[in-house]
Amino acid sequence: LFTVYYGAVINPESLTTFKALPRCLFLVNGDGYIDWIVDDVESSDLQNVLASKGLIDIDVYVLKNGEFVMPGFVDTHTHAPQVPNIGSGQQYELLDWLENVTFPMESKFSDAEFARKTYPSVVQRFINAGTTTCCYYATIHLEATKILADVVKHQGQRAFVGKCNMNRNSPDNYRESSEEESIAATKELIAYIQSIDSDLVHPILTPRFAISCTSPLLSSLGDMLKSDPNLAIQTHISENQNEVKLTLELFSESTTYAGVYDDHGLLTERMILAHAVHLGESELQLIAVRKAGISHCPTSNFNLRSGMAKVGEMLDRGIKVGLGTDVSGGYSPSILTAVQHTSICSKMVANHSMHQSSSSNGTFANKQLPMTTLLYLATMGGAEVCNLSHKIGNLQPGKSFDALIVSVRHDAGNPAVWGFEDDFEHVPTKEELEGFLERFLFCGDDRNISKVFVQGRLVGGKSFVKGA
Ligand code: GUN
Ligand code: FE
Repeated sequence: LFTVYYGAVINPESLTTFKALPRCLFLVNGDGYIDWIVDDVESSDLQNVLASKGLIDIDVYVLKNGEFVMPGFVDTHTHAPQVPNIGSGQQYELLDWLENVTFPMESKFSDAEFARKTYPSVVQRFINAGTTTCCYYATIHLEATKILADVVKHQGQRAFVGKCNMNRNSPDNYRESSEEESIAATKELIAYIQSIDSDLVHPILTPRFAISCTSPLLSSLGDMLKSDPNLAIQTHISENQNEVKLTLELFSESTTYAGVYDDHGLLTERMILAHAVHLGESELQLIAVRKAGISHCPTSNFNLRSGMAKVGEMLDRGIKVGLGTDVSGGYSPSILTAVQHTSICSKMVANHSMHQSSSSNGTFANKQLPMTTLLYLATMGGAEVCNLSHKIGNLQPGKSFDALIVSVRHDAGNPAVWGFEDDFEHVPTKEELEGFLERFLFCGDDRNISKVFVQGRLVGGKSFVKGA
């Protein structure tokens, strides 16, 4: 079975361009892939165009005025077991926050029953926020992490699921007892995720951060990466100044934080590095050469007082960048909040650099990021960081239909359309549609996300009823 959609489409294209198409016609096939797209079809011409595709007398899903389709969001960094902690411990910086708030909550997932009760609503929360692909950290617990993978598969999200590797510098009740135990459990998780036979769920190596891992553990993970060319890896880097200092004390043979990961064979194009707030020049160069990706997590970076990442500079260097919610360092599971804080962060970096007379010769460095770039980072940028751009990120024939139906109508409860929404004949102009997008990105929320599709399957959104 296939579905034909007709209406407004927002389609990102590059860091500096996107398409706002007020009357687009496209077909999603029974396997959840986009078959074809026609950019501009007048309603009087609809039947003719369908007939030219061999489609006669078929139902078309017609979007209302104030609704549009756009690619789903990619959250390149978040912590599923920290969702129950959202909004607590807001007074701490990173290392104290981990000790006092985060590790105590994560340790509860030693109880598989707790995981079974908690993870379904966690995953649905991310889906309903419009996240169609999510990079999850679980905990150190194999059983609970398998449960998270099961839940993600069952609820139909596209995801990377990783069991944290942590064999030092955390409490006794929340630490793996040896490198061997950590590696064995990691291998078992990978085998398990491969055995549940899902095209959507991928395993990912997850050394929490250098501080949590001994050098032999990092080396063993490097060996695993080398022996499996499809395996992805995620970690934290250079988030907080005390963290950077402690990392360099623990790894005195390495000259920089990025160097620690590189010296253990972890810094490759399959690496997702979260935060990257305090990186130096040589580290940025190394990351660009290794083609690793960066997950920009501004909500968390503001909230834990970590600092402001220089995203524009990374983009000018050609480094892949996506957005991350980093729950619960970040207090919002929505990439929309990350978009808003990415904008504010870029504005404050620009403001600060003006007072410092820093260079703004590049396209993005030390400038505020325009809406087009924000849209790109939330979708295609995330897809690149996950090495999934051949599959997702925007709407193109051959790509998966991972998409949102967004409503900025009055009946959504958080409108951007005033006065003319019941006029079904009204087709928004390109400018009106761009205005809808801006309002959605800067003040939209779950109320505006009516439907969430992954691989063509309806998996969430405001109008989604479980089991229906
Ligand atoms: N560094 C190591 N672990 C964490 C975590 O859970 N959250 C954040 N924000 N940083 C980390
Ligand atoms: Fe994090």
